[in-house]
Amino acid sequence: MNNTHHTPDPESLRDLAVSVAAEAGELAAEGQAGITVLDTKSSPTDVVTKMDRAAEELIRTRLLQERPDDAILGEEGGGAPGTSGVRWIVDPIDGTVNYLYGLPDWAVAIAAEVGGRVVAAAVAVPVRGEMFEAVLGAGAYRNREPLRAPAAVPLERALVATGFGYSARRREHQARVLLDVLPRIRDIRRDGSAAVDLTGLAVGRYNAYYERGLNLWDWAAPGLIAAEAGIRVGGPNGGPPSTDLVIAARPELYEDLEVLLAPLAADTDG
Ligand code: IPD
Repeated sequence: MNNTHHTPDPESLRDLAVSVAAEAGELAAEGQAGITVLDTKSSPTDVVTKMDRAAEELIRTRLLQERPDDAILGEEGGGAPGTSGVRWIVDPIDGTVNYLYGLPDWAVAIAAEVGGRVVAAAVAVPVRGEMFEAVLGAGAYRNREPLRAPAAVPLERALVATGFGYSARRREHQARVLLDVLPRIRDIRRDGSAAVDLTGLAVGRYNAYYERGLNLWDWAAPGLIAAEAGIRVGGPNGGPPSTDLVIAARPELYEDLEVLLAPLAADTDG
């Protein structure tokens, strides 16, 4: 057990994130066949499964067993303070609707933040057999193989992933934004997991991504992985990613997508 308050090396945080994400991913994958819908959040389409909670409980327990003084922010259990200067940002199952419908694109995402910066991350996509990992400044990996995102394509040839919020009002505006985006790009994908979308950029499954209304746990871990693979990950008005808007693509394409989205008020609910 580590009870000291020295800043831990990011590699050890990554190793812990990877092993805990793998364990939680296994648990959730086993449970996907027999899931039960327990609760709803902001609207009936926002399903929270029993497994979502069980996976987060397992993640919290494992992280705190190893590092009892760390803080944890999780999608299901909220925030728990710590004293070590390390905060874990956890999404036990990103893509809960896919999970509920037996679809493969859901992920377990775990990021470690030190001094307000994400320094290490793991994203497990168990059904695809993928484990993504990254350390700030040290590159991104999928199943231990280094990742480099493919070069940018022109906007009109970009396959763009996006997602929609759970509230009807937000969705209406997101659909209006899409009316102006769709004719300008190759096509759109709505695959149902921000973590799978962002890590998908790193491996060239999509060329770009944008979404309004994500929470920190949706982008913290996969955002570092994408960034370490050469993807620019940002937010509104040239700033960092935020709940208002996350944009991600190779830098040249990012700029074109940003220019396209700005007048459409994609960072608002219209
Ligand atoms: C959701 C997924 C989805 C995105 C939503 C998220 P959850 O996360 O990432 O792709 O469009 O905005 O809330 O609720 O499945 O963890």
